[in-house]
Amino acid sequence: MNDMDTQALMDAAREAMTHAYVPYSDFPVGAAVQTADGSIFTGANIENASYPLACCAERTAIYAAVNHGHTEIRAVAVAAARVPTVTPCGGCRQVLNEFKPDDGDLIVILDGPTITQRPLAELLPDAFGPRDLAGERG
Ligand code: THU
Repeated sequence: MNDMDTQALMDAAREAMTHAYVPYSDFPVGAAVQTADGSIFTGANIENASYPLACCAERTAIYAAVNHGHTEIRAVAVAAARVPTVTPCGGCRQVLNEFKPDDGDLIVILDGPTITQRPLAELLPDAFGPRDLAGERG
């Protein structure tokens, strides 16, 4: 992904973070996903008085994309106000894996002093995914 697209996706994630509902953790996170056709969908983390029901920013963004008919995600950017760099939690890595492109890996864009790109396969090696259910591994 080129620098301009990377920056635009990170800007969208940072803006999304301003909508976080985090009365319990006070740890706002924002995410932005870019779909196969170049559309961008955003999300922030949304917590609940019943703590385990919190939804991460990444999943909020992914589910927004899927709800609009986009099931192929090329990249996700993530930002958190309280730390320079935040990486997607294990659960969100698995959900991202579900919607990675058929023809390549999904790029995870991390905030920080310099914005960095990591392939999802590096963050979630040997992932279990839809192809495993079809017996297509190996
Ligand atoms: N959180 C995210 O939204 N994304 C991450 O990548 C890490 C954690 C949220 C969940 C919870 O609302 C808060 O951050 C503290 O864990």
